[in-house]
Amino acid sequence: MERTLGLIKPDATAKQAHGPILTAISEAGLEIVAVKSMRLSQVDAAGFYAVHAERPFFGELVEYMTSGPIVAMVLQGEGAIQKWRDLMGPTDATKAGPETLRGRFGTSLQNNATHGSDAPDTAAFEIGYLFSGRELRGLTE
Ligand code: RTP
Ligand code: MG
Repeated sequence: MERTLGLIKPDATAKQAHGPILTAISEAGLEIVAVKSMRLSQVDAAGFYAVHAERPFFGELVEYMTSGPIVAMVLQGEGAIQKWRDLMGPTDATKAGPETLRGRFGTSLQNNATHGSDAPDTAAFEIGYLFSGRELRGLTE
């Protein structure tokens, strides 16, 4: 069973898109292992997207990701990484089909409503970055 890290980004939480996104995840047959709402600090966001640190859009990306609350999710299932990325659609929301989450809730290349890990190693890093072992085992009170 594969796991991936999903985020509902600040533009989508501002639209109260939590419900339809969680519904789409369940309808796609993905299991929600853990889910929580949080607000990333600048340091949190820069560390999460450290792989993009040298990109020209990095500063704007950090600003966007810290602009409001996000929802972090650990999703599990067969081929979960690809399944979740298919559900999200392409990075550029203006090119995403209306059946995808980015097509439904995103508005631009940057403001694209959701995030998903792109490979097993990044999924492991991102899950460990935002969730503790206790949270993943349902042991928090
Ligand atoms: P993500 O990591 O958020 O799931 O998105 P992705 O793999 O589809 O795209 P990635 O290349 O990893 O980019 C990370 C996020 O940076 C913003 N972005 N802005 N202004 C730009 O040229 C630009 N390009 C990317 C997006 O929010 C993208 O999701
Ligand atoms: Mg990415």
